[in-house]
Amino acid sequence: MASQKELDYCYDFVMKLTIESAKIIRDAIQGGKNIETKAGDWDLVTEYDKKVEQILIDGLVKEFPTHKFIGEETVSKTNILPELTAAPTWIIDPIDGTTNFVHAFPHTCISIALLVNREPEIGIVYNPVLEQMFTARRGRGAYLNGKPIKSSDVFELRQSLVCIEASYATIEDIRDIILGRIEAFVTIAHGIRTLGSAALTLCHVAMGAADVYHTDNLMPWDVAAGVLIIREAGGHVIDTSGGDFNIMKPRVLAMGNRKLAPELVKLVRLADVKTHRRRVNDKKSSE
Ligand code: IPD
Ligand code: CA
Ligand code: CA
Ligand code: CA
Repeated sequence: MASQKELDYCYDFVMKLTIESAKIIRDAIQGGKNIETKAGDWDLVTEYDKKVEQILIDGLVKEFPTHKFIGEETVSKTNILPELTAAPTWIIDPIDGTTNFVHAFPHTCISIALLVNREPEIGIVYNPVLEQMFTARRGRGAYLNGKPIKSSDVFELRQSLVCIEASYATIEDIRDIILGRIEAFVTIAHGIRTLGSAALTLCHVAMGAADVYHTDNLMPWDVAAGVLIIREAGGHVIDTSGGDFNIMKPRVLAMGNRKLAPELVKLVRLADVKTHRRRVNDKKSSE
């Protein structure tokens, strides 16, 4: 499968299903939730994450019985990440920004992508609280609520607004690396923001509201749709090391303008060297 007609059908179907399922998120965000934790105190999940994923997968399986699925809450049951094959595969985050959802902070969304031959063909990121529907089809541009979007043309870090994550800051070595990188960005950029939803942050770069997004420690469902939306909006996504981006092992340096890439890679590398030296010195002085 991969004819444009078949993809058109998939797109129309998943759009309707997403809008329908997202009503659950919109109706529940202000109310009480059953909150459980997964990998740690910071890794929250609610009954709504599970419910929305079930509705999405049930709806898609019924319509596309031969397709494959990689959904966050399904993977969480076994902790085994399936291999991505060439078969049509839906990658689903039922609620991206669960912590925001728990706190009723309105940046939360459904993120769904369809990959064929390991390439994203359809990307949908829908925030039902703020009614932002970001969409993209490969080769057909990116849209916010049906209007074309374009990433920014800022090509110097000192003129950029940078989004970064700080979600896993309770794990010591990850915290030090994040803080070192934040320090480096703070010294140069116009400002730093942290939105709490990887999918929506990628879309903010896609629409030119931010110039850069950087984070490691993500999963395929956080990025699969957003990466297509950025690329279709004219932006660029690479691995933090400067190499090719891998949806299945995402370390994200996303930017509105690809000319920023060398400066970003260098900044992160230098920040990490500084952090490493600082840790070695701290260890020595505590001995
Ligand atoms: C999280 C969000 C957050 C990012 C975390 C993700 P979830 O996804 O995208 O912005 O920092 O790494 O796990 O758990 O809310 O779907
Ligand atoms: Ca989660
Ligand atoms: Ca997520
Ligand atoms: Ca999620």
